[in-house]
Amino acid sequence: MSAIRLARLSIRRLSMSAHSTLDLPSRVKIVEVGPRDGLQNEKEVVPLSTRIELINRLSLTGLPVIEVGSFVSPKWVPQMANSGDVLRQISRISHVSYPVLTPNVKGFEAALAAGADEVAVFTAASETFSLKNTNASVEDSLLRIQDICDLAKVRSIKVRGYVSCVVGCPYEGSISPLAVARVAKRLYNMGCYEISLGDTIGIGTPGCVDSLLRAVSHEIPLSSVAIHCHNTYGQALANIYRSLQLGVSVVDSSVGGLGGCPYAPGASGNIATEDVLYMLHGLGIETGVDINEVVKVAKFICEKLNCRTASSVGQALSQSKL
Ligand code: HMG
Ligand code: MG
Repeated sequence: MSAIRLARLSIRRLSMSAHSTLDLPSRVKIVEVGPRDGLQNEKEVVPLSTRIELINRLSLTGLPVIEVGSFVSPKWVPQMANSGDVLRQISRISHVSYPVLTPNVKGFEAALAAGADEVAVFTAASETFSLKNTNASVEDSLLRIQDICDLAKVRSIKVRGYVSCVVGCPYEGSISPLAVARVAKRLYNMGCYEISLGDTIGIGTPGCVDSLLRAVSHEIPLSSVAIHCHNTYGQALANIYRSLQLGVSVVDSSVGGLGGCPYAPGASGNIATEDVLYMLHGLGIETGVDINEVVKVAKFICEKLNCRTASSVGQALSQSKL
């Protein structure tokens, strides 16, 4: 039997584990953050045409949500300048959402003027990170977010909320799950429909994630929580798996594992979308996303950025052509 046929068979066998017996969700929503979290950390500013083509290609893979850019200060994150042009020029597909990050009302208004119908707001569970990332304390960032949420409600714009440093902070060290739970509750009460918990520097382990989600679950339903893992220490898949067992069914990931945060020194990219898809599909969990198409998009963007994919699955699938 050829090696490729053998690999195909073993993939089929691996996919036979029923999600129901493991108490996992039957369907998971993937939020693709590569065009934003991925490209915001590139040393060189990626040309507008590449950003647009990346999003257009991702739109054809079955992904339900693609974060396309940020309306932040171009002095702070030059890589995300011109996100309005990106939003205006992409070819939108009706069943795909295209949220953008907005740190304040100025960014929110600019996003709406460019046609955004969903925004993401962001704060942190760490004071120092919040100051470094947004020049505002956690409380002040929440006040800015409250203003955005008030306007969004009037204009029927969906708002997603991020909490960064949910396990640890590059400046303060470990962060208490209770601090995260408090911030998550504030965002939820302001009207954020989903709260994404960011392990910004990728230091969490399944044990930390367990304590984190148990604390958060006392304040908000885990059905409204997403997990956003950077893979610096290679723990992201294990952390996602633990999150799914606890009731989370939304996972943020980045094509090719691109990414990081310019204000989180040492943080690597998000967990690769391909790696998450391979694990989920192997568990029999539906995503609606075509993994092989995502691998092709990763190849496209890695060639443009002249980098190697960070996805083990992407590398394996490209070699075996499965
Ligand atoms: P500031 O300097 O305090 O802002 O920055 P300001 O209000 O004092 O204004 C200063 C200048 O910025 C003014 O321009 C404003 O007009 C301009 P000037 O008069 O000097 O020419 N400005 C803006 N320009 C464009 N868009 C805006 C905007 N607001 C003000 N929205 C600010 C405060 C929040 C703007 C700044 O700190 C900033 O842009 N930070 C963004 C940082 C960022 O994008 N970080 C990465 C995203 S978060 C992340 O990656 C984590 C996540 O992935 C989850 C995880 O992994 O944990 C989400
Ligand atoms: Mg991130």
